[in-house]
Amino acid sequence: MAVLSIKNLFIEYQIKSGAVKAVEDVSFDVEENESLGIVGESGCGKSTLGTAILRLLPQNAKITGEILLNGVNLLELDNESMRKIRGKDIAMIFQDPMTSLNPIMRVRDHFFELFKVHNPDIKKNEMIKIASEALESVGVDPKRLNNYPFEFSGGMRQRVMIALAIALKPKVLIADEPTTALDVVVQEQIMQVLKNLMKTKNMSIVLITHDMGIVAEMAERVAVMYAGNLVELGAIHKLYNKPMHPYTRMLLESIPNIKLDDMDLKFIPGSPPDLKNPPRGCKYYPRCPFTKDICKKNDPKTKKVDSRIVKCWIYGE
Ligand SMILES: Nc1ncnc2c1ncn2[C@@H]1O[C@H](COP(=O)(O)OP(=O)(O)O)[C@@H](O)[C@H]1O
Ligand SMILES: [Mg+2]
Repeated sequence: MAVLSIKNLFIEYQIKSGAVKAVEDVSFDVEENESLGIVGESGCGKSTLGTAILRLLPQNAKITGEILLNGVNLLELDNESMRKIRGKDIAMIFQDPMTSLNPIMRVRDHFFELFKVHNPDIKKNEMIKIASEALESVGVDPKRLNNYPFEFSGGMRQRVMIALAIALKPKVLIADEPTTALDVVVQEQIMQVLKNLMKTKNMSIVLITHDMGIVAEMAERVAVMYAGNLVELGAIHKLYNKPMHPYTRMLLESIPNIKLDDMDLKFIPGSPPDLKNPPRGCKYYPRCPFTKDICKKNDPKTKKVDSRIVKCWIYGE
């Protein structure tokens, strides 16, 4: 059953010179206990989507659609109800753990603040017990509850952030580029921590990354985003063996040593379009090796093919 269900989500940032269409008509489900990757280049709307689910978008963001967590539309909740859900039912970790930890607060006080939001009467020894368990589950010595954030390395700080996120056993954890700021060896360790959590906790993980290699290692299903659109979604092994959208294929080709079939495609280098002024038609057409006339004129509809979703004119009307 879907624990999280996104339906026809649109998000625009209002800026002086117009509107940035950061998310356009995105729909997908996150099943219980699954790991879903959201992948795409920088600027494709991934963080906007993740942040919207926690209702942490800035004031200038206009959002329509539905975000159902266990059937409850988060977009209809008042701020107080949302505060009670955040951290308890759904939590998020970000790329840079330093900005989300308060430098003048010990680690244990970060936990205490979180626990008190959800249970004002909680006893101190109970808090220490839960915090210690959370730290242990991510490989941090509970003694370090007394340390300040600056006393940790980048990788250890990220572990602390993960421990904070999972301490109250949320049903969904959204991890937005959780390893991007870390060096390769530490990256691998953090991925291992997340994998362990997936095995031992009863939790779904939404892993946001620009790195198709990380997704291939972690996720059971993958949603590919390009220019605010969901262009493909499917099981990782299917996507990997036979990408349907040309953009997915391009991302796969960026993984070292991957063997795709012999198609020798010339992808046009470049970057995603400016979302204030995107091309009409399919937003990917300027970079696509298969572009036809229709792609330049009309945006393709989202199609279901078997258990996959794809948004591309190659697959017809
Ligand atoms: N607060 C904001 N105001 C205006 N535009 C924004 C804001 N935050 C992000 N954007 C724009 O929204 C688009 C999507 O950004 P983002 O969600 O961060 O993408 P990603 O996480 O995939 O890199 C980009 O064009 C970005 O410049
Ligand atoms: Mg981002």
